[in-house]
Amino acid sequence: MKIAFFDTKPYDRSAFEKYGAENDIKFKFFEAKLNEDTAELAHGFDGVCVFVNDTVNAAVIDKLVELGVRIVALRCAGFNNVDMKYAFGKIHVVRVPAYSPYAVAEHTMALLLTSIRRIHKAFIRTRDYNFSLAGMTGFDLHGKTVGVIGTGRIGRVFIDICRGFGMKVLAYDKFPAPGLDNGDTIRYVSLDELFAESDIISLHCPLTEETYHVIDAAALEKCKKGVVLLNTSRGALVDAEALLAGIKNRQVGAACLDVYEEESDLFFEDNSGHILDDDTLARLISMPNVIVTSHQAFLTEEALTNIAETTVQNLADLRDKGECPNELCYRGGAAEDCKCGKCF
Ligand code: NAI
Repeated sequence: MKIAFFDTKPYDRSAFEKYGAENDIKFKFFEAKLNEDTAELAHGFDGVCVFVNDTVNAAVIDKLVELGVRIVALRCAGFNNVDMKYAFGKIHVVRVPAYSPYAVAEHTMALLLTSIRRIHKAFIRTRDYNFSLAGMTGFDLHGKTVGVIGTGRIGRVFIDICRGFGMKVLAYDKFPAPGLDNGDTIRYVSLDELFAESDIISLHCPLTEETYHVIDAAALEKCKKGVVLLNTSRGALVDAEALLAGIKNRQVGAACLDVYEEESDLFFEDNSGHILDDDTLARLISMPNVIVTSHQAFLTEEALTNIAETTVQNLADLRDKGECPNELCYRGGAAEDCKCGKCF
């Protein structure tokens, strides 16, 4: 089986080569992202392996099908970059539903602690032998209320971590997890109550039409003044312009972003020699109370190994059995109405 691997980074290759060789799957690594201009590279391959910023829209799907490509193997959990409705019935789409919820949840807490204890400032100061503490006052997490939007795998690990710090949890999910609400330290509430009562808000839901800009100007207005916003999920959950305005007018106390709405042309690449065209991102990065990491929350040894292992297994399942438990098959309409048993 031959797979065209798009948007390759140096850290991707070794695990995929190892597990691929063990399962008779040969990867050809391309640095280019998959899009309308590069889809032709998949000529002669059985499948493509793609990541979060590859584009799998209708035009790309048509091209892949025309080339005889049968599988889109996402080496990630989110699939908002795939036109699932269009793909249905034309090409198999498989994903890695969970590779390390700990990686993302722990990174989220790392960002929060860095921000509120000013570790990013201290690191720079002490390297310059500046041992002043002026402006470094943080706040205790113990006793604070964290609002968690999306209580799936990552959201629940993050809740566990927050509970370890003695925080109270307000949760919101379209499909609440049975048994999570204990009526006391962890409670499911409406979005409005979560906005009004949370000191910190962390996003762990997928990007869908419903969750697009779940944090917009109206939502920020409902929040406590000084709220800390954490987004390690998907950039477009947050209206970046509204966030910037919220930072400027002090409604938002701090923001930690591992993802950004317009990240696809910037994140994962070294742009240090370029003039940044995105004024909103540039202004956000210039703020002392904003921390940006470039979609690195997933990046641990454990996650990379699990991603490669599961992706190879997904491909082998489709090759050997014609089906795969990690296949996505969105038939259109509301996802919860689909009875195929394979939908998200
Ligand atoms: P999951 O599928 O286990 O959990 C997602 C949760 O969101 C589910 O409980 C679901 O019911 C809930 N949800 C769905 N629609 C909702 C809505 N309209 N409002 C509120 N909640 C809703 O997914 P998992 O593994 O926890 O991942 C969460 C997200 O994290 C992914 O969708 C992905 O976007 C992001 N992610 C980011 C990574 C990074 O490196 N920064 C790495 C991996 C995932």
